Amino acid sequence: MRNVLVSGGSRGLGLAIACRLAQSGFRVIALARTESGELRAARAEQRELHFRSCNLADTAGIGQAVAQLRREFGTFYGLVNNAGLGTGGLLSMMRDADIEALIRLNTLAPILLAKYVLRSMMAAKEGRIVNITSIVAQSGFKALSAYSATKASLEGFTRSLAREVGPLGITVNAVAPGFVSTAMTQELDEHAREQIVRRSALRRMAEPTDVAGAVEFLMSDAANNITGTTLTVDAGNTA
Ligand SMILES: NC(=O)c1ccc[n+]([C@@H]2O[C@H](COP(=O)([O-])OP(=O)(O)OC[C@H]3O[C@@H](n4cnc5c(N)ncnc54)[C@H](OP(=O)(O)O)[C@@H]3O)[C@@H](O)[C@H]2O)c1
Repeated sequence: MRNVLVSGGSRGLGLAIACRLAQSGFRVIALARTESGELRAARAEQRELHFRSCNLADTAGIGQAVAQLRREFGTFYGLVNNAGLGTGGLLSMMRDADIEALIRLNTLAPILLAKYVLRSMMAAKEGRIVNITSIVAQSGFKALSAYSATKASLEGFTRSLAREVGPLGITVNAVAPGFVSTAMTQELDEHAREQIVRRSALRRMAEPTDVAGAVEFLMSDAANNITGTTLTVDAGNTA
């Protein structure tokens, strides 16, 4: 059975991704600091959906955490770098510590996770890495400059790493969601939501299951020859 690590798999997009991949036959290990009630309920239905607690902001511990998971579950086929913070704010007003925390979780942690998981993929000569970015990496958005920087950097990381590990049979892609209703976007008011819907080609917002479907595709054999790309899932918000 193919193992896939899903960071931030306890709720929101990560939970939808973890559930979808488990349904399509992967053994999924969801990582987050705490297990949510929703994930616990999903695990009761899905034998191959697992949870391991891990604070990815503790970047010095990522190598050891991956080694422990490998001992427990075996070689990794896939990694979904999904955990992230959505801290917003006008840059001139943001606390330095908040900017650092954003970069640590959204940029440094996924790069280190990929580094350590890759060692196992390289030995197996196959693997899939999917980085969850955001449409704001390309489109820009007021009061999300530091966040956008983390997501744009992950897209650059995706393209270069795809070139580096392609000869080893490993693909690296990104999925860029538009605005999706999760805990991260709960502060968006009704007016902002209506504006997003009005400006989207399909006149609606994408759902967590849409993002999960895109990740499932990139993990599947149908995507064997797709690498270094970013797949946008935004109901046409940036079309
Ligand atoms: N929602 C959107 O509209 C949207 C749009 C574009 C891109 N995205 C991206 O999609 C990804 C998921 O977003 P979401 O909306 O699903 O977020 P969310 O609902 O806030 O969930 C975040 C997940 O990350 C985990 N996490 C947070 N801090 C962590 C840490 N220090 N160590 C380990 N896990 C941690 C959380 O679990 P714990 O708190 O238990 O650790 C949770 O499972 C993010 O990368 C986000 O930037 C979201």
